[in-house]
Amino acid sequence: MTRAHVIVVGNEKGGSGKSTTAMHLVVALLRQGYRVGSMDLDARQGTLTRYAANRSARAIIVGADRLPLPTHVPVARSEMADQAEAAIDERRRFEAALDELVATQNYVVIDCGGSDNFLGRLGHAHADTLVTPLNDSFVDLDMLALVDSETLAIQRPGVYSELVWESRKQRAIRDRGSIDWIVMRNRLSALDARNKRDMGHVLEKLSKRIGFRFVQGFSERVIFRELFLKGLTLLDMVEADPDQQLKLSHVAARQEVRMLLDALKLPQPQALASAS
Ligand SMILES: Nc1ncnc2c1ncn2[C@@H]1O[C@H](COP(=O)(O)OP(=O)(O)O)[C@@H](O)[C@H]1O
Ligand SMILES: [Mg+2]
Repeated sequence: MTRAHVIVVGNEKGGSGKSTTAMHLVVALLRQGYRVGSMDLDARQGTLTRYAANRSARAIIVGADRLPLPTHVPVARSEMADQAEAAIDERRRFEAALDELVATQNYVVIDCGGSDNFLGRLGHAHADTLVTPLNDSFVDLDMLALVDSETLAIQRPGVYSELVWESRKQRAIRDRGSIDWIVMRNRLSALDARNKRDMGHVLEKLSKRIGFRFVQGFSERVIFRELFLKGLTLLDMVEADPDQQLKLSHVAARQEVRMLLDALKLPQPQALASAS
């Protein structure tokens, strides 16, 4: 039995598209026939957990054969007042949940919250692949590096880059493993060509300096928001929502999700879900 490959979706910033990316990766992998575990470390906001619940409810209506489901586990932050005890409590619950998922699934997708906390760091330190969605603006870029506003020269690493650096160290100490870090641009708009180009230049330089690959992510599209309540993603529309008319923009958006998955270059697990 091989261990599942762990994909962590993280960025020390709310609203950058982590949960949206996580749910699309979960469904893209499910639709390829894999067993997928999903873990919500942002249980307070609970976006991925609510999404999983919406999806389960939907599966009862349309039939589970048409709507594959992940094995979903939320891991909440500890309520213990003492910081050291809280950390032990969080580590125990996180590791128990992850051990179970990696032993039974092909892939595990972990959605993190938008702030720096112990649980989020635990998640990061267990990543095989780390995906960081980034809104296409210099405000978001600040998390990765401080950039001179005039020359766009990189001055020093940002807080999130330091967190990833630390996670890579933790991972290496624990099992000599490494983390493949991918920064993905999200909510790309066709309108702001200059900003898009400047961001591209800086990301290119940064990727070499701090060790990530960067990929085109998703464009700004309403459809990424619309399907949430139904528990669906773009990849389910035809299969599980016959009322939906697949428009040209939807086809393009599905393509973006598939391209992201390809760009991640995930290893293929040997133990596939049974093909029946
Ligand atoms: N590519 C996109 N196009 C349009 N809306 C998006 C896109 N990506 C994310 N959103 C929306 O932005 C908001 C924040 O996204 P979310 O995935 O919840 O971010 P996070 O988990 O990082 O806080 C949500 O309303 C989501 O539907
Ligand atoms: Mg979220």
